[in-house]
Amino acid sequence: MNALASTLEPTDGDVFERIAQAIGRHGYAVMDAVVPPALLDSLFVHLCNLPGEALTRAGVGREDDHQLNRFVRSDETCWLEPGEAVADAFLGWMEQLRLGINRWLFLGLFDYEAHYARYSPGAFYRRHRDAFAGGDSNRVLSTVLYLNPSWMPEDGGEMLLYADDELRIVERVQPLYGRLAVFLSEDFPHEVLPTRRTRYSIAGWFRVNGSLGGQIDPPR
Ligand code: OGA
Ligand code: MN
Repeated sequence: MNALASTLEPTDGDVFERIAQAIGRHGYAVMDAVVPPALLDSLFVHLCNLPGEALTRAGVGREDDHQLNRFVRSDETCWLEPGEAVADAFLGWMEQLRLGINRWLFLGLFDYEAHYARYSPGAFYRRHRDAFAGGDSNRVLSTVLYLNPSWMPEDGGEMLLYADDELRIVERVQPLYGRLAVFLSEDFPHEVLPTRRTRYSIAGWFRVNGSLGGQIDPPR
């Protein structure tokens, strides 16, 4: 166990059960204060101090059509890599969530990938889905953890979660510090409205095992 993980308050198993139950009932969950405060603070400090070149303009899908990307999203991202104390503590927490969800919902979640995201003032992410039926991403469940102290409604940057028919907004999520949103990747189109302040989040995806013929998942 690394230094950070050993100082974290263990998360009550009820938290994972509550998240799983909400997903089972509604397909999504939005919860505050479920991630340990010490972990939130370490993630926030880490993200704020990432060197400028670590965050790069985000792409859409596997093809890198930067012309198109500019219309779709304008955030900058950086993958969390295992091996660093802060990333390991976060990935360890998500591993507990993975096990909890599999126990309650039998989704067969196999692994998890996540990136830090920074939305500079004016940045947005137009309405999209994180996965499509029959697609090759194997993404089943999306997570977004928000890391914005003292966020105000007038700062913008809300995430709108739509019903599957794409017309009805089922949730408007302010990106408040420590708030966690989890939703079925195929079922909920969503968008990030333009932000007026720098907006930080960690977006991640639980995936099922897409191995074919002994080959584990295509590289991202
Ligand atoms: C994404 C995403 C939402 C957010 O990265 O796919 O939809 O609120 N992020 O940051
Ligand atoms: Mn998304």
